[in-house]
Amino acid sequence: MKEIVSVSILSSDFMELKNDLERIKKSGAEMLHFDVMDGIFVDNISFGFPILEKVNKNSDMTLDVHLMIESPYKYIERCASFGADIITFHIESEGDPDKTIDAIKKTGAKAGLALRPGTPLEKALPFMNKIDMLLIMTVEPGFGGQAFMNDMLEKIKDARKFITENGLDTDIQVDGGINASTAALASDAGANILVAGSYIFKSEDMKNAVDSLRR
Ligand code: DX5
Ligand code: ZN
Repeated sequence: MKEIVSVSILSSDFMELKNDLERIKKSGAEMLHFDVMDGIFVDNISFGFPILEKVNKNSDMTLDVHLMIESPYKYIERCASFGADIITFHIESEGDPDKTIDAIKKTGAKAGLALRPGTPLEKALPFMNKIDMLLIMTVEPGFGGQAFMNDMLEKIKDARKFITENGLDTDIQVDGGINASTAALASDAGANILVAGSYIFKSEDMKNAVDSLRR
């Protein structure tokens, strides 16, 4: 399985965002990862719809939106209207996950469900046959630049096993602390979409950095 790379623009220098979008496009990465934080679900506040709209207008890449917000349901429609191709929300946030997944599907976007490191895989299993992507957080959500949690590898393996055994084609995304060595561990465990932020932006050559994440 070829790994898909989703570059998190949380680590961009926002004064350089337009230029960064071009660099990301040229790097060969497939997706842009867009982290929305509300200061309630996580202890940080990032950016929202006005920026999403601009990013969408200035890039033709797949927009992978990660909602780290307490009330995802009420923002799904607007999120899609501003250009999200994949909308991922956390199972730990409020609301009925079935309703939120249906709302995402109704917009035509793909639906992703995210798990914090402390949330067991079992919580996601009832929804596996209706989501397009499972996001297994490999750091505590809220900040870029944290270290990959190796103990998430078992969760990734278990998720891949469940997907295979049930004949599903759900993608497994990992997010947090991804670099050349942790990407290999995560892919070996069964992840096929790799989110990377600080590793990509700190590298001297973005294309080499993206290439180094793939096997
Ligand atoms: C963290 C975000 C991540 C973050 C990853 O809450 O969800 O997408 O940008 O950053 P790195 O790759 O630096 O761990
Ligand atoms: Zn993210």
